[in-house]
Amino acid sequence: MTAAPEIITITSYEEAKDTYRQKDLRQALYDAGEVIMADVLVNLHGTAHRDRRRLENRLFRRDTFELYEHELFPPLIHQTLEPHVRTGRAELVDLGHQLMMNLAASTAGVDRPLGTPEETFRLYDYLRSFIEGATLAHFTGDRDAKRSEVAAKLAEFDAEFVAPSIARRRGLADAGETLPRDVLSILLDNQDQLDLPHEVVLREVAFYLLAGAHTSATAFTRVTHNVLQWLERHPEDAEAVRTDRRFVQRCTHETIRLQPSSPVAMRWALSDVELRTGRTIPTGAKVVIDLLSVNRDTSVFGPDAESFDPRRQLPDGVPAYGLSFGSGMHACIGQDLAAGLAVAASDPDGDDASGSALLGLVPQAVQALFDHGVRRDPDNPPEMDESTTRPYFGRYPVLFGA
Ligand code: HEM
Repeated sequence: MTAAPEIITITSYEEAKDTYRQKDLRQALYDAGEVIMADVLVNLHGTAHRDRRRLENRLFRRDTFELYEHELFPPLIHQTLEPHVRTGRAELVDLGHQLMMNLAASTAGVDRPLGTPEETFRLYDYLRSFIEGATLAHFTGDRDAKRSEVAAKLAEFDAEFVAPSIARRRGLADAGETLPRDVLSILLDNQDQLDLPHEVVLREVAFYLLAGAHTSATAFTRVTHNVLQWLERHPEDAEAVRTDRRFVQRCTHETIRLQPSSPVAMRWALSDVELRTGRTIPTGAKVVIDLLSVNRDTSVFGPDAESFDPRRQLPDGVPAYGLSFGSGMHACIGQDLAAGLAVAASDPDGDDASGSALLGLVPQAVQALFDHGVRRDPDNPPEMDESTTRPYFGRYPVLFGA
């Protein structure tokens, strides 16, 4: 029997940043989740990671963010919200997943030829299965059976969504037309140059769907909840929610700091690694970065670091969302897309020379709720998700209108 690895937990902000920087610490979070996560970006290391990241970075640039934020996302947000606004009510947990999955599908390159609610539901079913596949390490039932089930779902997803999306892009390329700006197009365009068999392209697309959708959906409900609670205590900010587009963005960053969508990062030490604090991580040890503690480090976020305050003042260089998007080589590629660009003190409106500020898709979607007068349903209080020990809402009923 091999001895259990030593586990080192990092809880302070500076030590966490230093840990993320270390090149000899390798991804450890998805060890049991290879059915979805084998060879996907977040699981690669060294030059394989660098080459894939360099390629995909081409998509995650300012011009793409502007295209998504100003042209592609607003109609998607409108279409997803509209039926609920018409009936005057919604359940935010499902709505958030549908909304963010639709947005993530367009970033990943999963075409939606029908655009019907049934199609959204089937895609959502695949997404739930991929989340289970990626997090098999925490699964308490029969893991082999679950792994086979997820593999079968992945094959169905390929036949129903990915293969037709690939065929459409190949057709466009053959006809000399421009490909849509998404991860799948980038991978197809460079499939020969990098070693990218179809199975890897399929998993990368499935991974982008879950990386973009689940994290943002969780944030969506929590931000809305935090803003509603804040307004109960600070009715004077009701005006800011309607008129100051940056206010909801600051609430989003503060929520993501306090309630990181991925509460831990994990790494394996490939060699002895010495941190600046003098702490040594021996070869073979597992490092756990505990983001709930790191993002509440009072030496950085102040004595009231535990509390929600969208007007919190931060030291220079410290992002308002703390380290919830990671840092170093695996830093979230979608963070500016999800949360926008933080506003520089010298540019309080956030409008730079190009005149187009980036709010981010989570603030944009939450803002759309408040633009429609979202409020709690007094007869249906929110409920927590009892199937997990993590603090997720299970149901969050809301009403629209004044
Ligand atoms: C609130 C929303 C989000 C949160 C909190 C979040 C969080 C994170 C975190 C913590 C990591 C680093 C994991 C690690 O160090 O092991 C990460 C990586 C990543 N995220 Fe996000 N994410 C969000 C939204 C998105 C979106 C919208 C996309 C895609 C459009 C995305 C795509 C990725 C990818 C591809 C990686 C892997 C990067 C690499 O390994 O080089 N994320 N994310």
